[in-house]
Amino acid sequence: MLAPLTVLAVAAPLAASALSLPSVTPAFTYPSLKNCPVSTEYSCTTDVSPENTCCAPGAGQGLFLATQFWNTFTGLEDKGQFLPKNSWGIHGLWSDFCDGTYTQYCDLSRQYDPSPSPNTTNGLPNGTVVPPYTGKETATSMLQRFGRFDLARYVDGFWINRGDTNDVLHQHEFSKHGTCMTTFDKACYSDYQEGQDFVDYIAAAVRANKQFPTFDILATRGIYPSNSTTTTLAEMNAAFLSSTGAIPYFGCVADETGAKTVLTEVWVYNHVLGTPQFGQYSPVNTTYPSTCSNSTGIHYYERTVGSEVSKWA
Ligand SMILES: *[C@@H]1O[C@H](CO)[C@@H](O)[C@H](O)[C@H]1NC(C)=O
Ligand SMILES: *[C@@H]1O[C@H](CO)[C@@H](O)[C@H](O)[C@H]1NC(C)=O
Ligand SMILES: *[C@@H]1O[C@H](CO)[C@@H](O)[C@H](O)[C@H]1NC(C)=O
Ligand SMILES: *[C@@H]1O[C@H](CO)[C@@H](O)[C@H](O)[C@H]1NC(C)=O
Ligand SMILES: *[C@@H]1O[C@H](CO)[C@@H](O)[C@H](O)[C@H]1NC(C)=O
Repeated sequence: MLAPLTVLAVAAPLAASALSLPSVTPAFTYPSLKNCPVSTEYSCTTDVSPENTCCAPGAGQGLFLATQFWNTFTGLEDKGQFLPKNSWGIHGLWSDFCDGTYTQYCDLSRQYDPSPSPNTTNGLPNGTVVPPYTGKETATSMLQRFGRFDLARYVDGFWINRGDTNDVLHQHEFSKHGTCMTTFDKACYSDYQEGQDFVDYIAAAVRANKQFPTFDILATRGIYPSNSTTTTLAEMNAAFLSSTGAIPYFGCVADETGAKTVLTEVWVYNHVLGTPQFGQYSPVNTTYPSTCSNSTGIHYYERTVGSEVSKWA
């Protein structure tokens, strides 16, 4: 992270080439919304699908989940992959139907996930097989091709994988979830170029997750990572209820006794007015019960020493 600054400090004059960024003309990636009516109804508040499913979510989709991880290490620290200090990491942006069910890998022509999980579209042997991606594009190459170095830097700070590269996580999230959101359909882009929808999805997931800074929301109730004390599900719910008006899903995994007390995930459910890219999010209560124990203390562990660094927002 500090390398470009060092270069600038020693290598005046400050030519752009000192940053050694490839010269790319930033290209427009956004879908065409010029014929969209003004949105007046939040998703899931009407049974009527919008006439144009590029303008608002179609086909009964209406829950948008800003999802985040709390990991204590990445496993790739030796390759420079660190967690952001004082921040949860982004997991993705997901859409569910209004009843909380969902589909995945909805357009295999936009399949960039090198190890699809699950390996069929419905997770069952009778679903369509999702072929592993073996092409040359990566999340980073698509962002760079459209000149979005800003976004590439942001996601490398705040959208962090564990046990594999960040690119793999970003490609997985788009192909599994982004392709199921009608407002990212290829047909929504006039003069579609491969990757526009990918860039938009990454930007939309960043925007949605920035609205719910879980580290800060929990801190409003004095809840901080600790390896010597625990918190409770009720306290975490109360922090979100007072900050956002709704209770998210908290995910926990089992501790050594088998009780689900180790906090690892949050999913913040929303209805949206307009598109998930640009529209207004309104938090709603989770449709999926927490997996965290409500009768024992919850471990919100501190990061492993050396696994987190301060990142620029
Ligand atoms: C999907 O994964 C399961 C579990 O690893 C495996 O048994 C199955 O053969 C795989 N199916 C396909 C179509 O690859
Ligand atoms: C696929 O398998 C599931 C579970 O075995 C079954 O409920 C479902 O009806 C099957 N779907 C099709 C299209 O055969
Ligand atoms: C969520 O549930 C709580 C009660 O558990 C309620 O006070 C709150 O109003 C609900 N929020 C929404 C957005 O429905
Ligand atoms: C606590 O969890 C149990 C088991 O998941 C559930 O049945 C119960 O309703 C929960 N209690 C509260 C107060 O949420
Ligand atoms: C806190 O505990 C977690 C879980 O055991 C561990 O991964 C982490 O390294 C610990 N952090 C510190 C600072 O001790």
